Amino acid sequence: MEKILVIGAFGQLGSELTDELRKKFGETNVVASDLRSDHPKASEGIFEQLDVTDAGRLAEIVEKYEITQIYHLAALLSSVGEGNPQLAWRINMDGLVNVLEIAREKKLNKIYWPSSIAVFGPDSPKQHTPQFTVMNPTTIYGISKLAGEQLCAYYHAKFGVDVRSIRYPGLIGWKSMPGGGTTDYAVDIYHKAVEGENYSCFLNEGTALPMMYMDDAIRGTLELMDAPAEQIKVRTSYNFSGISFAPEEILASIQKTIPEFNMSYAPDHRQQIAESWPQSIDDSKAHEDWGWKPEFDLDRMSEDIITNLKKNLVEAF
Ligand SMILES: NC(=O)c1ccc[n+]([C@@H]2O[C@H](COP(=O)([O-])OP(=O)(O)OC[C@H]3O[C@@H](n4cnc5c(N)ncnc54)[C@H](O)[C@@H]3O)[C@@H](O)[C@H]2O)c1
Repeated sequence: MEKILVIGAFGQLGSELTDELRKKFGETNVVASDLRSDHPKASEGIFEQLDVTDAGRLAEIVEKYEITQIYHLAALLSSVGEGNPQLAWRINMDGLVNVLEIAREKKLNKIYWPSSIAVFGPDSPKQHTPQFTVMNPTTIYGISKLAGEQLCAYYHAKFGVDVRSIRYPGLIGWKSMPGGGTTDYAVDIYHKAVEGENYSCFLNEGTALPMMYMDDAIRGTLELMDAPAEQIKVRTSYNFSGISFAPEEILASIQKTIPEFNMSYAPDHRQQIAESWPQSIDDSKAHEDWGWKPEFDLDRMSEDIITNLKKNLVEAF
């Protein structure tokens, strides 16, 4: 029986992925961990407080629960990372080194570590950005993710660590709030729309970015982790594509259900980051190697999010 440790379990991705892992592997076989211990989810299932940069504490938890797989999600994201690049490098790189080292020492079965479209930069092709191309990221977040990808490939080639990775686009869900990325507007906008307010967007009209609905992202992650090891041919990180859209397209999609909703534009420092990234991604390698196929388009995602957020709002009263 697999025993799973999730690191960064209270983040936007972790809080949903941990629930799915518990459904799949059983409540008692999934240990949630995070730097924060004050989250409401800390009382749901097994929880351990962990700073992933503390290798000793990580080893203690792995031994205590006889962990066989780690999902290492803790990171400082693109926008907050620019505010403290030294800290972003330390958390993003030292954390990954600690996880890969414990995987090597304890011969863990599998490791999952997400990368990002932030590994690409202004020199990368903008449309259908290929799996293998010029990278040259310009944010500390992207630089740490690119270095991390190479480290994963190295640990796989040199030590046989079965580490797998996906370059997520902007993730959009309704259950949890985003943690300081450049695509956060595409989550925030739905909350404002459902609460009957208008939205001021921090990206400009026409700024298309690759995005994905959380349900697709989680399903794809679990499919990658379930695939036989010999099918995983890319050991840096897989390009992974869902939907690509600009702010005015998500506005139009929301207006199909909430016609009175409107949006203005007030671009900030995140505009520059967004402009350095691809607008759409070629994920044919993920499709070929382990059968990846997204299910949600923009309108289907909007309908699902708005329905669920409205339900939440009614239940809150
Ligand atoms: N959300 C996205 O759109 C997106 C896109 C591309 C890649 N990713 C990647 O997916 C992963 C999860 O992202 P997210 O959106 O859930 O991030 P998030 O910021 O919402 O959550 C990160 C979690 O990690 C925790 N954490 C921070 N420092 C820690 C430390 N030192 N030790 C232990 N825990 C720590 C935080 O408390 C938080 O709960 C990250 O690696 C991120 O780079 C996310």
